[in-house]
Amino acid sequence: MQTHEIRERFTNHFVKAGHVAVPSASLILDDPNLLFVNAGMVPFKPYFLGQQNPPFESGTATSIQKCVRTLDIEEVGITTRHNTFFQMAGNFSFGQYFKEGAIKHAWALLTNSVDEGGYGFDPEKLWVTVYLDDDEAAEIWEKEIGLPADRIQRLGMADNYWSMGVPGPCGPCSEIYYDRGPAYGKEGGPIADDSRYLEIWNLVFMQNERGEGIGKDNFEILGPLPKKNIDTGMGVERVACLLQGVDNVYETDLLRPVIDAAQKLSGSEYGKDKDSDIRFRVIADHSRTAMMLILDGVTPGNEGRGYILRRLLRRIIRSARLLGAQSKTMDVFMNTIMDTMTPSYPEIADNRERILRVAITEENAFLKTLESGTQLFEEAAAKVKASGASTLVGKDAFALHDTYGFPIDLTLEMAAEAGLSVDTEGFDTLMAQQRARAKADSRAKKHGHTDLSIYREWVDNNPTEFVGYDNLEAESTIVGLILDGEKVNEVHAGQQVEVILDASPLYAESGGQIGDRGEILVGDTVLKINDVQKIGKKLWVHRATVETGGLGLGDTVTAQVDKAWRHAARQAHSGTHLIHAALREVLGPTAVQAGSMNKPGYLRFDFNYTEALTPDQLKQIEEVTNQAVDADWAVNTIETSLDEAKAMGALALFGENYGDLVRVVEIGGPFSMELCGGTHVAHSSQIGPVAVLGESSVGSGVRRIEAYSGLDSFRYLSKERAVMSGIATALKAPSEEVPDRIAALSQKLKEAEKKIEDLRQAQLMAQSGDLIHAAHDINGVRVVSVRLPDGTSAGDLRTLALDVKNKLGENAGVVVLASAEGAKVPFVVAATKAAVAKGIKSGDLVKAMGEYVDGRGGGKPDMAQGSGSRAEGLDAAFGAVATVVSQI
Ligand code: ALA
Repeated sequence: MQTHEIRERFTNHFVKAGHVAVPSASLILDDPNLLFVNAGMVPFKPYFLGQQNPPFESGTATSIQKCVRTLDIEEVGITTRHNTFFQMAGNFSFGQYFKEGAIKHAWALLTNSVDEGGYGFDPEKLWVTVYLDDDEAAEIWEKEIGLPADRIQRLGMADNYWSMGVPGPCGPCSEIYYDRGPAYGKEGGPIADDSRYLEIWNLVFMQNERGEGIGKDNFEILGPLPKKNIDTGMGVERVACLLQGVDNVYETDLLRPVIDAAQKLSGSEYGKDKDSDIRFRVIADHSRTAMMLILDGVTPGNEGRGYILRRLLRRIIRSARLLGAQSKTMDVFMNTIMDTMTPSYPEIADNRERILRVAITEENAFLKTLESGTQLFEEAAAKVKASGASTLVGKDAFALHDTYGFPIDLTLEMAAEAGLSVDTEGFDTLMAQQRARAKADSRAKKHGHTDLSIYREWVDNNPTEFVGYDNLEAESTIVGLILDGEKVNEVHAGQQVEVILDASPLYAESGGQIGDRGEILVGDTVLKINDVQKIGKKLWVHRATVETGGLGLGDTVTAQVDKAWRHAARQAHSGTHLIHAALREVLGPTAVQAGSMNKPGYLRFDFNYTEALTPDQLKQIEEVTNQAVDADWAVNTIETSLDEAKAMGALALFGENYGDLVRVVEIGGPFSMELCGGTHVAHSSQIGPVAVLGESSVGSGVRRIEAYSGLDSFRYLSKERAVMSGIATALKAPSEEVPDRIAALSQKLKEAEKKIEDLRQAQLMAQSGDLIHAAHDINGVRVVSVRLPDGTSAGDLRTLALDVKNKLGENAGVVVLASAEGAKVPFVVAATKAAVAKGIKSGDLVKAMGEYVDGRGGGKPDMAQGSGSRAEGLDAAFGAVATVVSQI
């Protein structure tokens, strides 16, 4: 049974039982605790916690959620049950059915025959586990389902009590296992061997809320949830593995084609060698995860999600190389995995080109890195081995990282393969020093501290109400104060603090727009707001300086946005939308947004595109943008559902969640329609002029366009005009003629320079006749030795020496020329054939001269040159030549 069909059967089974089928959320949800969505229940968390009512009338839902877990990337392919990307099929009950319902639904789907719409598993092969004291669940399995008591096992908190690993909903669970038979391990049920008994479905009886704590079994249970819920997760890949009769999840229909492609490209065979097999599996697993991450908007980078993607892509490339692939591989791997995944994720079809481009660009960059870095690594490793040691020093690992962009894990892997360990402590110290130099990363700068857990309490219980679309001022209450990363009750003049308000009119940085500036006022107290950051979509953190006075928790204050700031910020953000729309009109829809930033007066927009834009394209983009300004279109904002917004054709980056109300900003109907939470002008003409500054490359395959908006545009253009008029005045030409004039001038200049050079050469050659006359006879050799005027270059000396030598013809002759050129003393010796035949060597003569002018030089018998630093020694140097010649 193909994976696609397994998915369909799951959804149908639960829809028939009244569940609402909810599409998978993006892998990227704005949750401070999660890098990626890692379980089916993540998008439903607020419903479990009772913070929001589920928008499903039945109170039940089903989904097949895209999940990524990247904690142990190194384990991929070594154990064969885990994928970094997997699909979790789940059914959810929000206060509706509980244990009995969940167990019966799951059992029916697993054991119903294929004709009945089920998976047709043999009930005799199924085992279950329940939480230690969960007699209720054990009894349902035994009495209601009829499972023999010896196939119901009990496990403790670490295995059978599920939570997200962080505060949130939790509860005991019951897991369903399939016995793959003695070939896979020993008897005795899941408690004895979890490789033979493969876990396929986890039923969580979500009934409590967990607090802070570490890991799976060391946390406090805060109390019961408002209702008893069900959260289940069936591993689609694992079910596919069983129903397709393959050995492991890497060989199912979705991944096996990538292994086959890797065999073809590398010439290695799968199933022959343990280490190679791991590499094949890494390629298959990571290709899929990388592709799905790019699909959801992640691009390779050096931090957070971008870094994970980069790591995955790099591991694919390296694994393919180690298997023997000589050429580039990303094109084939990505195309293969897109083919297998498109039936389940049709949106891939529209993104193929973009996904390919991102992956291939990274491959090209990495191959360069790999080449130079591997060489450095091998040299370092050889040195270690030669010295009899077995540890690569931290300094080398750091150099690989710093100079070649080698992630430390790559160095660790390569070292392990070479039988070496790495001094990671030393590496960490150097990294820490570097970081200290770079003064912490930008996030730390923004929040003052990187540990976001301090905000969690407010994110969950006291989210900020944003009232700033319509108001620039609001009364609000101080609900949180943070000083140096610690919660405090009051703050005082002179302190840099973070302030959390119950409601705020200030825009928090997001969607590319930077945070508003403004003030918090009460009585004589003034706090100047320097930045506003958003945590987890919901919490506004105002970074402020207490200028005068002080305030405390619970105080009622006035929060004010700086009006001029907001006015210009609106112009810049609306201007960004126009630039985006113009860009798509001029370049076509493959110019996909990769990021943007706007602040009062300035905007920049990054997009995926492999070539530099031509001046003509830039001009067109600017023209289309300003026409849109001139059209004076109304700027409309519409709140609607995500599906509705997509149906309207709104452009979305990522991060939206099913059920979320989204905000669509529309300018000129279909011209520009984007999901956006930013602040905008009311009419496009209010943006004012938009002046494009230029475009540039920011990393591989990504271009950046920069522009001014509003008054700053005008000022920029006005300054340019002043510069131009200065040039025109200097040239005494009207400005339209300036470019032609400058071209003509530089042409003239080139011609004049050429003439001067020709004249100089002619003058030089004229001297050679005089030089011949200066020849005197030593020992039957005609010797010309002359110091030429100061400033004569070594090149000129050479030209002249050759010319004089030619003039000496068949005679035995030696030409010695020198000069002083600044602090240098160039000298040249040339000898005719006949002189060489007599035993004269120009190289030796140059060496002899060098001693007198503090210099050195060398060359062949017929021609040599040198350079010294003591012109006073030249006479003696000429004398030395005469002496040598006289002794031949
Ligand atoms: N949330 C449960 C899990 O991830 C179903 O296993």
